[in-house]
Amino acid sequence: MINRFALCGTMIHAPVCGEVEVLKEALVLVDDDGVISEVISPESNRYAAAKSKLVEDGRLLQLSEGQYLMPGLIDLHVHAPQWPQAGNALNVPLYEWLQAYTFPLEAKYADLAFAEKSYTSLVDTLVANGTTTTMYFATVHLESTKLLADICLAKGQRALVGKVAMDNPDECPEYYRDASVQQGLDDTRTLIDYIRQLPRNENKRVLPVVTPRFIPSCTDEMLSGLAQLAEEYDCHVQTHCSESDWEHDYVINRHGKRDTQSLNHFKLLTDKTVLAHSCFITDEDMRTIKQQESGIAHCPISNAYFANGVFPARQALDLELNVGLGTDVAGGTTPSLLENCGAAITASRYLEGGVDTEISAAERGKPQARIDFKEAFWMATTGGGKALNLNIGLLKAGYAFDAIVIDTHIENTNLAVWADLDDVEDVLQKIIYNAGRQNIRKVWVQGDLIGGADH
Ligand code: GUN
Ligand code: FE
Repeated sequence: MINRFALCGTMIHAPVCGEVEVLKEALVLVDDDGVISEVISPESNRYAAAKSKLVEDGRLLQLSEGQYLMPGLIDLHVHAPQWPQAGNALNVPLYEWLQAYTFPLEAKYADLAFAEKSYTSLVDTLVANGTTTTMYFATVHLESTKLLADICLAKGQRALVGKVAMDNPDECPEYYRDASVQQGLDDTRTLIDYIRQLPRNENKRVLPVVTPRFIPSCTDEMLSGLAQLAEEYDCHVQTHCSESDWEHDYVINRHGKRDTQSLNHFKLLTDKTVLAHSCFITDEDMRTIKQQESGIAHCPISNAYFANGVFPARQALDLELNVGLGTDVAGGTTPSLLENCGAAITASRYLEGGVDTEISAAERGKPQARIDFKEAFWMATTGGGKALNLNIGLLKAGYAFDAIVIDTHIENTNLAVWADLDDVEDVLQKIIYNAGRQNIRKVWVQGDLIGGADH
């Protein structure tokens, strides 16, 4: 095995949900394909020889005091075209927000020059925030969705990209929908073929995704046709699931069942499916999702604006569901997945404590609903990788070297680390709450250095 390079330093990752594994002065060896070939701890009797050989060959990157190697962040849910409205247009409920702001903005991506400018800015921003993998909804347009895939590949970000399917004339405006079921299916097929055959995409860094926007925007024929395509191509699937009162009730009225059961009926729940939000899922829904080995994108910031409730993260994690995090740009306000880690913790505390002080303390909240920074970190890394069914999110042999270096010792940072007070877990907790893009010095995908403040 040829090792391309190796790193030596303090690494932090989360193989087990709720726990953090720290290895100080670990050697992480990366092979020619950008895959971690071995992690050698200082206790190993091979450590000294391996390290001096790497130094001799000039292939060792030594991290300094205050720097930490972590898996790259995995954002399971981003609406790429909504980037121009991030942090804006948050004053109305989901249905109105789609019709008044979001569909008009997404319709602009018929214009390839506009799409190029917006998508380039977004991918650069996500990478700078340490996001090594993003699962993207694009728009209904085939050509600008191809362009998003091109941009991710050119910049080196791992990406899963879907052309949005939305053909239901009752829910989608005439100016912004698939012209017909057949057109939506044909364009989806063309996109899958296009991404799979992209030059320089031999190692599948960019993957296609079958993307029914959500049940309200699709006819039953579209849902069935998309499920067939996903099966034919063994392709990822993404959609929204039981997000808000309005959306959840709409599906019950139309199909007589909740989103999860309906999506399962249409064969859209697979081990490569990611369900965004899922705030209103029941115990039965959780069991169905587990049985189908599907993933969930928990989007805590977006949920505060559009979901009318808090996703029961603790319950889902206790059932060992594959839960990761999503920024949901631009239902979510920020491109930072670390901020969403913090928000996931905060939301769980509101769920546990309750929010209305006019209700007695005993009645106000939902007992044992909290998660902490360890679970949030697991979701942002390991859980995201599991939801996508890809070998990413851990610093472990056989996993892609998708990683970031966080530097806590820089000037002009909100991070206040005290070497004589904080152990590495304390530092991780502080990173989650207070690290910004200036602390993210290096970003690698599949062993390629693609970004970070040092880049
Ligand atoms: N449901 C259908 N489309 C969307 C969208 O763009 N954002 C969110 N948050 N929910 C949706
Ligand atoms: Fe969304």
